[in-house]
Amino acid sequence: MKAAVMRANNAPFEIEEVEIDRPGLGEVLLRTAASGICHSDLTVLEGGLPFPPPCILGHEPAGVVEEVGEGVDDFSPGDHVIGCTTRWCGVCRFCTEGRPYLCPTQYEGRPADSKPRLWDQAGDPIGQFANLSSFAEKMLCPERSLVKIRGDMPLDRAALIGCGVTTGLGAALRTVNIPAGASVAIVGCGGVGLAALQGARIGGAGQIIAVDNQAWKFDLARKLGATDCVDASDGDAVAAVHDLTGGGADFVFECIGLVATVQQSVAMTGRGGTAVLVGVVPMTEMVPLSAADLTLQEKKVTGSYMGSNRFRFDMPKYIDFYLDGRLRLDEMISSRIELGEVNDAFDRLRKGEVARQVIVFG
Ligand SMILES: NC(=O)c1ccc[n+]([C@@H]2O[C@H](COP(=O)([O-])OP(=O)(O)OC[C@H]3O[C@@H](n4cnc5c(N)ncnc54)[C@H](O)[C@@H]3O)[C@@H](O)[C@H]2O)c1
Ligand SMILES: [Zn+2]
Ligand SMILES: [Zn+2]
Repeated sequence: MKAAVMRANNAPFEIEEVEIDRPGLGEVLLRTAASGICHSDLTVLEGGLPFPPPCILGHEPAGVVEEVGEGVDDFSPGDHVIGCTTRWCGVCRFCTEGRPYLCPTQYEGRPADSKPRLWDQAGDPIGQFANLSSFAEKMLCPERSLVKIRGDMPLDRAALIGCGVTTGLGAALRTVNIPAGASVAIVGCGGVGLAALQGARIGGAGQIIAVDNQAWKFDLARKLGATDCVDASDGDAVAAVHDLTGGGADFVFECIGLVATVQQSVAMTGRGGTAVLVGVVPMTEMVPLSAADLTLQEKKVTGSYMGSNRFRFDMPKYIDFYLDGRLRLDEMISSRIELGEVNDAFDRLRKGEVARQVIVFG
């Protein structure tokens, strides 16, 4: 099968012929139908999240089951599925209390000393990112990384739910519970931010302020539910949000992952409000914040990981939201590309020129 292999950090992907194993115990082999490109793939490529080359990135997939391994009862050939990075053991404290996205076991599903799932033409193993690796024509995943979805959901749009949409919607609907009428600011209107924006709308927010430094995103943000837009490249975005909300927003979602925008997001949060950190700041960086500001104004700061998902329960629901018209995904796809165009797609992502790009497999 063809795959885009990361041979080195900060280098173009190599499109290569890669070998993939047959499904073993508890595994499912998929034909990849579509894979979104998430900023976290770029963060890994740039070395901001540690995952060593050679490996195949891509973690926002939808596909069709081709073959199942021993012991797999919940999936059959022909099923449509979404893959998710959440790796859950099912028995730890976090899994059993309903927060499998916090499961610390990093479940792999195949013992570390066994045959790799992926290898190159020289016979050397290729790393699988988050048990998925969807920048490839096929995927071999533990069944636990997958959820079956209804057959009438278009797979290119289903793919978006695999990471960005679940992350953004879940940040607004699961990590925090936005009360009807609340004021919300979304800092960064890429795939994740636009999903958080829609989560705020679906949750009943009153005012939804889109903040970005690329003004062309505002048409799209308005279509998806923004009531106001703030161009961060033109003046003081913090002051603008304070003006629009009369003292700061009840909820601010940081969906970029930069030190400066995390600080701005906390500053945009009003008295008693909550800043939700969704963007991933590179692990090498620290963010100085005023503790007195948090204490004296009783502001809360929370992280939000993968939309606090229980994805086998949440993703089919998010698909229903799309099919009943509440969740708008068509507008979020800036372009559909082939696997061979992946390096150009990463250039566009670096420049902030896109909302979401989707690799569609033939
Ligand atoms: N918490 C999680 O579980 C989780 C999951 C997936 C992705 N993420 C992270 O979420 C973040 C967003 O991902 P994405 O795929 O939507 O990225 P993206 O690149 O598509 O979107 C980022 C947006 O921020 C805007 N932007 C960049 N710098 C800005 C600035 N200084 N001021 C204002 N706007 C600015 C860009 O124009 C773009 O619209 C990334 O950090 C990603 O790693 C987190
Ligand atoms: Zn992602
Ligand atoms: Zn667990």
